[in-house]
Amino acid sequence: MIISARGLRKDFTVHRKVGRFRRERTVVSAVDGVDLTVERGEMVGYIGPNGAGKSTTLKMLTGVLSPSGGEVQVCGLEPVAKRTTLAKRIGVVFGQRSQLWWDLPLGESFSLLRHIYRVPETDHTARLKQCTELLALDEFIHTPVRQLSLGQRMRGELTAALLHGPEVLFLDEPTIGLDVLSKQAVRTFLSELDTRGDTTVVLTTHDLADIEKLCRRLVVIDHGKVVHDGTVDELHSRYRSRRTIVADLELPWPDGLTLPGAVVTAVEAEGRRVTLTLDGTAAGEVVAALAKAVPLRDLSVQEPDIEDVIARLYRDDN
Ligand SMILES: Nc1ncnc2c1ncn2[C@@H]1O[C@H](COP(=O)(O)OP(=O)(O)OP(=O)(O)O)[C@@H](O)[C@H]1O
Ligand SMILES: [Mg+2]
Repeated sequence: MIISARGLRKDFTVHRKVGRFRRERTVVSAVDGVDLTVERGEMVGYIGPNGAGKSTTLKMLTGVLSPSGGEVQVCGLEPVAKRTTLAKRIGVVFGQRSQLWWDLPLGESFSLLRHIYRVPETDHTARLKQCTELLALDEFIHTPVRQLSLGQRMRGELTAALLHGPEVLFLDEPTIGLDVLSKQAVRTFLSELDTRGDTTVVLTTHDLADIEKLCRRLVVIDHGKVVHDGTVDELHSRYRSRRTIVADLELPWPDGLTLPGAVVTAVEAEGRRVTLTLDGTAAGEVVAALAKAVPLRDLSVQEPDIEDVIARLYRDDN
């Protein structure tokens, strides 16, 4: 495994003003005993509500913050103690912070990074070419970073994080604030990276479409604790999310009619629209039975909504 954390903790002491003169010390357990193992080549979505402890975890994994407790290794190294060695083997993008030089054209930041990381020229050129193509950097590679739009800068940040060929990439909200096209560019880029399979990726996001499109594995954290670790499908089955069929009918729905494999969950529009929730039976079978019972005008099958499931998970944990 390339990342392993056992009982990882981070406590912050915060001082709160109480009344005019007194200050009270309280301890916030931002990360409260996280166990996490990631295998080489995995792409893991690390999600959770605001303040759950995601960024704090990533900071401990990348050696920016030292843990208050527990054990952690990335690429077989202890992140804080071996921070400089580790830096050569990982790439980091924190949405809020930049690793680029504000006053320099984007391309010059890349050259500087090549020297800092001592990347052989041929490797650098090949990687930069690949990023330039996939992320369409051409349009703004000569623009000073301070003049880049958020989406352009984010594409630059991703490139900067990858130029030294890291084994693990940590991304904290890489699609935050991006328009649909930039989001797509970033997602396509990451899924390309995933297909090649040699880079391990841990990413946090509030955009669940990122997760659905990119991550087979989902780790959900809330109040500093892992509340789910598994696939999106496992999450659906844990919450018994069901597919539904919404059918518009030529004739009103016959009162009390039941169909095997589905439960009637709503009858609307004067009986002309019925919603059926499937119990796991294939939609085709239920639709066939439905069409036999009542003539159909129109029909749609809806997949369970990942947002609903995640919202339930966040609520349940409170
Ligand atoms: N430097 C700090 N000092 C004190 N408390 C902190 C510090 N950094 C984070 N916290 C607290 O730790 C908790 C977890 O914060 P963290 O930034 O890890 O959350 P997050 O999951 O990344 O949230 P978001 O989705 O909003 O980015 C929060 O309660 C936050 O207020
Ligand atoms: Mg955060």
